[in-house]
Amino acid sequence: MKGVILAGGLGSRLFPLTKITNKHLLPVYDQPMIYYPIRTLINAGIDDIMIVTGGNSAGDFLKLLGNGKDFGLKHLNYTYQEGEGGIADALSLVEHFADDEPICVVLGDNIIERNIRQAADEYRAQGRGAKIMLKEVHDPQRFGVPELDGDKVLRIEEKPAEPKSNYAVIGIYFYDNTVFDVIKTLVPSNRGELEITDVNNHYIGRGEMTWNELDGWWTDAGTFESLLRASNLVSETGANNLGQGSAG
Ligand code: G1P
Repeated sequence: MKGVILAGGLGSRLFPLTKITNKHLLPVYDQPMIYYPIRTLINAGIDDIMIVTGGNSAGDFLKLLGNGKDFGLKHLNYTYQEGEGGIADALSLVEHFADDEPICVVLGDNIIERNIRQAADEYRAQGRGAKIMLKEVHDPQRFGVPELDGDKVLRIEEKPAEPKSNYAVIGIYFYDNTVFDVIKTLVPSNRGELEITDVNNHYIGRGEMTWNELDGWWTDAGTFESLLRASNLVSETGANNLGQGSAG
């Protein structure tokens, strides 16, 4: 399985912090934000990683990360997303890199306390389709929200005004190589982007979606409140701890 980190976008919810630099280069406690999703993948046994960047300061990723030596990697891959086409549009850029292998996609502003080893192992065993990860939150309307029927995800709604559960679909996804064909069928949403939620609903419709509940805390870091929260959480417990896997 290969890894993909989506680290593009204009980070407009963090203006003016992102006026001259990329959101994923901003500090979260004592490290640049992009360090955390890299560790998330490495801790899941994934070391062939593509970083999709874009917007401001794209060249600074190369300067900061090089070939990934600080993470024990021999090599890192980079690609550039033009414009603001959304998460699924960014993902479409890695079709050649994926080269028919399954992928684990991590949104560059998603930080976790523990690790996704169990989910990654279960997805490897699953062999096809997709897997999402859920976490109970107090503000589901900020996220993709699943409608659940027991163990089954019936549908995901993106930022619903009236959420059908208290779970967020976190920004860590597992896909087989049909994801690129799915993306080609998408149309832009109201916010003018190709939505990852539409990709996930496609797999749900095919009956090929599984989910795991994430163990430990999770946060995004794309707003002032969540960026501060992320720094506080990391300073309190550390992130990407190897102690426990993901339940589910
Ligand atoms: C994106 C996804 C959303 C997901 C969230 C996790 O939202 O669209 O479904 O729950 O990431 O961080 P965005 O950050 O683009 O608003």
